[in-house]
Amino acid sequence: MSLKPQEVAPLNALRRHVLSWLSDAFHAQETGGLSWHWSAFRARKAWQPSKEAIERFLLSHEPLESDLLVIGGSAGWMMSSKWLSRFNAVTIIDIDPLARLFFALIHGKALKASGTSWHFERRDALKELPQLLKEHPKALVFFDNVLGQQCFRLKDEERVERLLGQLKRTLQGRTWGSIHDVYSGPIDVASPQGKAPLIRPEHILSFDCQFGEMLSKDAPLEHKTKAARSARAPEFEAQPKHMVLDGTKTSFEEGAQTLLQSVNASGEWQDHLSVEVFAPDTPSVMIPWFFKPNYCHWLQAAMVVN
Ligand SMILES: C[S@@+](CC[C@H](N)C(=O)[O-])C[C@H]1O[C@@H](n2cnc3c(N)ncnc32)[C@H](O)[C@@H]1O
Repeated sequence: MSLKPQEVAPLNALRRHVLSWLSDAFHAQETGGLSWHWSAFRARKAWQPSKEAIERFLLSHEPLESDLLVIGGSAGWMMSSKWLSRFNAVTIIDIDPLARLFFALIHGKALKASGTSWHFERRDALKELPQLLKEHPKALVFFDNVLGQQCFRLKDEERVERLLGQLKRTLQGRTWGSIHDVYSGPIDVASPQGKAPLIRPEHILSFDCQFGEMLSKDAPLEHKTKAARSARAPEFEAQPKHMVLDGTKTSFEEGAQTLLQSVNASGEWQDHLSVEVFAPDTPSVMIPWFFKPNYCHWLQAAMVVN
């Protein structure tokens, strides 16, 4: 017995829906899913110092908005319940269908106690951002460790840089913030010559940071940071002209060195192509995150009040 074309189409649509649901539940296009939940659950104690640094950053911003739109919120493993509780209503957007369940387990009780209503929607927030902004005209928009993952999802450098570089224009007139990976890579856990690194998993320090305006892509190679001394940094394609770290203006090369050396970077580091998310010279905080005992991420966090 063969099916008629009008019977095949809905079956194909259902098949596509089930496959996309399963694939996003497992790995969320290489940005999350079950593997993220498992890593976050196992590492919850080790990640606590970075989580506390993120909470300090979030709580230092007293929101004027009563609604919050969290993009890529997942289960909120690194998110502060205290900050979420400051809002009347929280909407979490994520492509991972399992995120709702884990979010309820992690934040449900605190949000119930504060009377904060929350709901979850499974959507591609980056594709649908203009529509989401229309649906939530008064909400503070927060990108929760999702923008630095787009290099894994899209696997096209230029597309990622274009997408991330233009977000600030789409968000003009809105109050928004983001925390995202900027650089990540291996670290040398055995400190060289017995000298302890400035930052260790149990001793987290953040840097106030501003990235300067971008160097033109056509700038001669000798103006670009190619190889760091303590680590083989990626050949930063898009790189700022300068950096300000804890109030001191340096070249990008020097600033990158400070970040890498302070965690004993070694081996090849990854550029997450997210350095242009914020406009040049936006005050931000760089927070180290020891993702694994021998692997560290530098997260950049800032709020933009328009
Ligand atoms: C590193 S995880 C975020 C972690 C989360 N902030 C936490 O504290 O648990 C990145 C999340 O972004 C989601 N994501 C990636 N691209 C997305 C997109 N275009 N729209 C919505 N969510 C997305 C993934 O499903 C994943 O849950």
